[in-house]
Amino acid sequence: MSVGKTILVVGGAGYIGSHVSLAAHERGYDVVVYDNLVYGHRSAVQWGEFVLGDMADADQLRLVFRHYRPQAVMHFAAYAYVGESVSDPEKYYLNNVAATLNLLRVMREAGCRHIIFSSTCATYGVPLGNPINEDHPQSPVNPYGRSKLMVETVLADYAAAYDLRYVNLRYFNAAGADPRGRIGEDHNPETHLIPLVLDAAAGRRPGVSIFGTDYDTPDGTCVRDYIHVNDLAQAHLLALEYLLDGGRSAGFNLGNGRGYSVREVIACAAAVTGRKIAVSEAPRRAGDPPALVGGTALAEKTLGWRPALPRLEDIVGTAWNWHKKISDESFGRLTPCPH
Ligand code: UFG
Repeated sequence: MSVGKTILVVGGAGYIGSHVSLAAHERGYDVVVYDNLVYGHRSAVQWGEFVLGDMADADQLRLVFRHYRPQAVMHFAAYAYVGESVSDPEKYYLNNVAATLNLLRVMREAGCRHIIFSSTCATYGVPLGNPINEDHPQSPVNPYGRSKLMVETVLADYAAAYDLRYVNLRYFNAAGADPRGRIGEDHNPETHLIPLVLDAAAGRRPGVSIFGTDYDTPDGTCVRDYIHVNDLAQAHLLALEYLLDGGRSAGFNLGNGRGYSVREVIACAAAVTGRKIAVSEAPRRAGDPPALVGGTALAEKTLGWRPALPRLEDIVGTAWNWHKKISDESFGRLTPCPH
């Protein structure tokens, strides 16, 4: 039973955290969002209480734990720009790792023993093959992925030593938006393929560049496993119930188990939006593995998780719905690109 249970969603004003907050609220949890709003949006916190604060601020966190007494923490508060993590690794290790240690310390002090951690397929690095299962070696190729793997390692050590249980959820490519259009993806700067393609469709960018057309993939462009953010949200709730029911600490991949190339994503976006999308071919982006597809049988078997929106059309369609909305709202402050 979720009624009367409080969860603290650290980073709940961000893209995935806000969708999880919505799903948790709908499931009957009391949601408390803790976010420093560096990248998050106050407007995305609509389903629970909001506390402005930084994960590095132990005193503020102590107050929150004392006041709300959460049964579990969901931790989304991380920097996630792979390129920036290479040029400014300190930013990543201080926030993604050191500030997480702070959060874990305050959790221990408060006797909060359950955490769901947002991890990533980037912890696997360049895969030996696809699909990638959870027993694939974790060998990240950039500081972002390493920062996430460090936290996974810390959690394993803490769970062995202290009274703590965790679930690491390793997302493949999160995409899509709340089908009712209340929240969606809104990064600044935006680097992800689907919102950039939709920006081009909306006329907010002149077009989209394909980073690399000479990969050893069916059409030469990179293949990724796109997973709807609502399906990620449902997986978080199942993982939470699993932990609260006494489940052992574990890590699960979250993807659809099916890959789409960059060209397939662009073609899908053109079909969904009915717009022409100008495409140019650009060199490979450093650090991009050719293909990343998740093996998700473990999450299905252990958590009973099955994506409800696996079709790329639905992922792109819900994102487009949201994208049109924010494009209209921001029309005054952004200069639209000519078609
Ligand atoms: N791409 C383009 N043009 C663009 C943007 C992206 O061709 O303008 C390509 C990329 O090269 C990649 C694919 O589209 O092949 C997807 O790129 P995204 O930036 O959308 O996503 P990534 O696969 O790079 O990143 C995701 C997560 C990261 C995580 C990473 C692990 O967003 O947090 O997977 O590989 F680290």
